[in-house]
Amino acid sequence: MAKVNQVSGTMEKMVSLCKRRGFIFQSSEIYGGINGFWDFGPMGVELKRRVKESWWQRMVRDRDDVVGIDTSIIAHPQTWVASGHVESFSDPMIDCKKCKRRFREDELAGAVKCPECSGELTAARQFNLMFHTFVGANADSASTAYLRPETCQSIFTQFKNVQTISRKRPPFGIAQIGKAFRNEITPRNFIFRSREFEQMEMEYFCHANDAATQYDYWVSERFAWFESLGIKKENLRLRPHAENELAHYAKGCTDVEFQMPFGWSEMEGIANRSDYDLSQHAKVSGKDLSYYDDATKERYLPHVIETSVGVDRTCLAILVDAYREEDIKGEKRVVLGFAPHIAPVQVAVFPLSGKLSEKAIKLHHGLKKRFASEFDDAGSIGKRYRRQDEIGTPFCVTYDFASDEDHSVTIRHRDSMQQDRVAIDQVEKYLSDQFKR
Ligand code: GAP
Repeated sequence: MAKVNQVSGTMEKMVSLCKRRGFIFQSSEIYGGINGFWDFGPMGVELKRRVKESWWQRMVRDRDDVVGIDTSIIAHPQTWVASGHVESFSDPMIDCKKCKRRFREDELAGAVKCPECSGELTAARQFNLMFHTFVGANADSASTAYLRPETCQSIFTQFKNVQTISRKRPPFGIAQIGKAFRNEITPRNFIFRSREFEQMEMEYFCHANDAATQYDYWVSERFAWFESLGIKKENLRLRPHAENELAHYAKGCTDVEFQMPFGWSEMEGIANRSDYDLSQHAKVSGKDLSYYDDATKERYLPHVIETSVGVDRTCLAILVDAYREEDIKGEKRVVLGFAPHIAPVQVAVFPLSGKLSEKAIKLHHGLKKRFASEFDDAGSIGKRYRRQDEIGTPFCVTYDFASDEDHSVTIRHRDSMQQDRVAIDQVEKYLSDQFKR
């Protein structure tokens, strides 16, 4: 049931590697999968955590002007009335009367017949992308609630609480990482467009006079974060939105795009949203969300610069960017060339023979305190290297028969395949130095 639509050769290989090596599986695979939902395996969850940790470190912990929150997935339904989602968070949907395939209107690019079977198409009708549920025992309209389609709205509704308790004055930001849900008409391209995904959003509150400068700052700061993940610069670009793409309240929006096998695609949006969000929530809730600046004696509704990025899309970009195939003396070598700080496994320790396992395990346990280390004693060394290359492990350490005598091990670099002999008591320092590069 779950499909990877419109995949190119590279994507097909990636999808297969992701399953083979435990990055990403179809959700509920044993029941045939469920379209638009994915599960992250042991490697995938580590990659995802590294992406989230990198974002949180840079956006919250390294800064004095941003604080974090973690809010509920289900909010008061009025939240989504105020935000405009109940009224207009919808895509026009068209069905084929013959083969029953479903399309978003923009995917058909004006076609009048079904592109799959040339069948007759229905007229377009609006389909709201929010998932509905019911809160409490009664399943009626009074108890209808929604799974949040974006994480940012509760940042706006909690603005006053957070501003007051954190004693922050604009300009300052509130950041959140969490699940979002959209009942996409046509989920596609593996985890690029799914129905359940994670967002990392930050709303930066500032005076209207400051908004244009802050917007420019955040556009370049967010681009720099993508580069810090080790993604090649030539695969990244900024795309400012044209005037006619902007929402009526927005004063500017720029996407960070990545060159996917299916074309340049949005990873993140940075938007100057004016005071729209706070003014909507103030209007619908009847609560004053303005800020009083006692230095200037001015009361105003802060303007907002939003940075909104998908965790899953970022993981996909990292995977696609890192994937490569090499020909080594007629044999194919598949490598995920992750930056060492992003790799799910950072170092693998191998004993050359089962007889050396005990000492190799001791070394592995020592390294585990500092790095994500994996121990592997199964199969030939060649096979172990191939597996580590495919999961993107930057360094493999082999404990061999000479190690007892020279108190050294061999460290093999994933990218150059260069091998260095390093004293056992220097391995941690050697690896730490590699990570600094
Ligand atoms: N609060 C603004 C907002 O949600 P958006 O452009 O709809 O803006 C922001 O979403 C980011 O969330 C996107 O750039 C993308 O990375 C991610 N995203 C949105 N819909 C997604 C989906 N169906 N599957 C995976 N990621 C998605």
